[in-house]
Amino acid sequence: MSAHVIREMNFEDKVSGSARAYEQAKSVIPGGVTANIKHFAPHPIVMDRASGSQLIDIDGNEYIDYLLCYGALILGHGHPRVKEAVYKQMEQCGSFVFGAPHNLEYQMAQKLVDLFPGMDQIRFTNSGLEATLLSIRLAEAYTGKHKVAKFEGHYHGGYDQMLVSINPDLNGAGEPTSPNSVAESSGMSDYYLEHTVVLPFNDLEATEKILRAKQDEISAVILEPVQGGFISADESFIKGLRQITSELGIILIFDEVKTGFRLTVGGAQSLYGVEPDLTALGKVLGGGFPVGALGGKIEIMDLMSPEKGQDILTSGGNQQATDRALFHSGTYNGHPTVLAAGLATIEVLEDPLTMKGLLQQTELLRNELENLYHRHSITMQTIGMGSIFNIVFTDEKVKNYRDLSKADLDFRKRIDYELLDLGIYTKPGNRYSISTVHSEADIKATIDAHQQAIKRLK
Ligand SMILES: Cc1ncc(COP(=O)(O)O)c(C=O)c1O
Repeated sequence: MSAHVIREMNFEDKVSGSARAYEQAKSVIPGGVTANIKHFAPHPIVMDRASGSQLIDIDGNEYIDYLLCYGALILGHGHPRVKEAVYKQMEQCGSFVFGAPHNLEYQMAQKLVDLFPGMDQIRFTNSGLEATLLSIRLAEAYTGKHKVAKFEGHYHGGYDQMLVSINPDLNGAGEPTSPNSVAESSGMSDYYLEHTVVLPFNDLEATEKILRAKQDEISAVILEPVQGGFISADESFIKGLRQITSELGIILIFDEVKTGFRLTVGGAQSLYGVEPDLTALGKVLGGGFPVGALGGKIEIMDLMSPEKGQDILTSGGNQQATDRALFHSGTYNGHPTVLAAGLATIEVLEDPLTMKGLLQQTELLRNELENLYHRHSITMQTIGMGSIFNIVFTDEKVKNYRDLSKADLDFRKRIDYELLDLGIYTKPGNRYSISTVHSEADIKATIDAHQQAIKRLK
């Protein structure tokens, strides 16, 4: 039996409780997971508790967490300021939710308007997905056009119109400068492929050509200003895109669900100095609770003001859709507990020293990782912005999905499986997010673990 197999068996022994829990879950939950992204082979690790930068699984194994709930937990697990705000809010509120307006909604909306240059008004949702979904309805209503353009490799939530060309097989993905629309799920109607135009990220010339050709049909361009949180838009690209979309009467939507608070408080739009028409937020905004928000220009956002017309639930059914306000709703939108957690999180981040420290720690980790791999003569780079980065095994410049797919993804996953055994947690292949509570000791332990992983694979 090879040493590799023995090691795998050891790790399987260590996480045998997870394996059993997973089998149990599979009988009542499809694939044993409540979101497909949480799955990895042979089975995900089932967590029991967490604190600061640390996760502990149901077998008692400890991990330094770099997934951080896909980036949401910028202050780490169970930050005392967030806990205090949540307990206090529940105590004062006397309930968990009102189902009516309350003051925290105004406070958070005002905070976001102050922080994000592209926001005049805000609506809250329960997820990032709902925020981007709402942005598309608004863009279509505002422009009267019914196609949406997105970039290859960009993720905006798992609904039909945006489940297109996120991780397409290159055999069917078309030319790099004119990508095909490729479905990412079964069960999607062709309608969505026909109404979703796919663009090449960081290629302004090709993007402009497609947008000009379809300007009468495209209502909006939506993008992650930093693809996947780690491939940044070139400044000239994002500024050029702003110019072209304005000229062609196309709404520009920044999906800042990942980047809203992880580059700087105020998102990529503050850093680039580019104002989108609409911005979607999520993740960090909820301080660990389910949240999303859409903000944008008043003339677009105002389309959903109920003062514009009755809503579908009270109109008595005798009004034309065109006379109605754009419909947006959600039982738990603007949930007080969530907003209290989010506001506490933003307050911690607004201390300039906190953000500075976070960015310095990220930089330190990236530098140490690069030094380590290069000492072992392994071709590798870290790419990213702010407090998110990824480890890619290529020395080519990575500017979009096609470039990324040329990196050695298999080696990356093998390293990540070794790291799980060594107490470093990220979903294999995923990006790294850092929190304000990752310490120098965590970073040192992470570098040591990488060193051991490299040795094992050699
Ligand atoms: C850029 C981006 N947009 C939208 C979403 C969807 O957000 P949620 O998972 O809260 O629905 C995500 C989630 O990872 C995301 O990264």
